[in-house]
Amino acid sequence: MQNVIDLTIAFVQDRLKFAEAGHDWWHIQRVWNNTKLILQTEKADPLVCELAALLHDIADSKFHNGDETIGPRVAGEFLESIGVNQEVIEHVKQIILNMSFKASLGDVNFHSKELEIVQDADRLDAIGAIGIARAFNFGGHKNREMYNPDIKPRTNLTKEEYKNSSVPTINHFYEKLLLLKDKMNTQTAKRIAEKRHKFMEDFLQQFYDEWNGIA
Ligand code: ADP
Ligand code: NI
Repeated sequence: MQNVIDLTIAFVQDRLKFAEAGHDWWHIQRVWNNTKLILQTEKADPLVCELAALLHDIADSKFHNGDETIGPRVAGEFLESIGVNQEVIEHVKQIILNMSFKASLGDVNFHSKELEIVQDADRLDAIGAIGIARAFNFGGHKNREMYNPDIKPRTNLTKEEYKNSSVPTINHFYEKLLLLKDKMNTQTAKRIAEKRHKFMEDFLQQFYDEWNGIA
């Protein structure tokens, strides 16, 4: 198992060398660490979970013209090239295809404990201080406004609306980040999410106060 993990790390580090900072190797490493933490209290296949964590953003559809099959395909081809067993490969591909917030807004017809764990691990990295930093980095990468008081935030977006959304970064908190706490699958993630969620609420309050010139 260690050899397979080491080969996968090397592959991912190379593929993500020029990635946007919110979706780079360090994001993958944090998600991998979160996965191992959750695995301490959940019964699941660690190899499937760790490989899915390491490969989940290998070719994100939003950086590849919306093609949602490219990530699972690239991951599958890599795992085949290093001789991983077919059942593990299929499971990892299903997790990558179905774990994103975007995917969860559409029809999901695959479920597994392993998917729940890696999904939580990824979602934990989208909230709290790191979540805030990643959101503004992504908005900067896309040259978006930080905030625009005239563009009201929305929640409950459909998958298509979410995919096409190009709102100011503050609105992304309402479209996604503030919704994640209640979507966590595992007890470990629910517990960690509480503190990170509160930090985002405090951040938003402080942001609006400063925006409005309140000392
Ligand atoms: P998923 O594929 O699970 O929906 P994304 O890859 O869209 O997740 O989002 C991952 C992270 O990228 C978000 O948690 C956020 O930090 C950043 N991000 C994505 N879309 C936006 C956006 N419109 N504004 C700001 N940040 C975003
Ligand atoms: Ni991710």
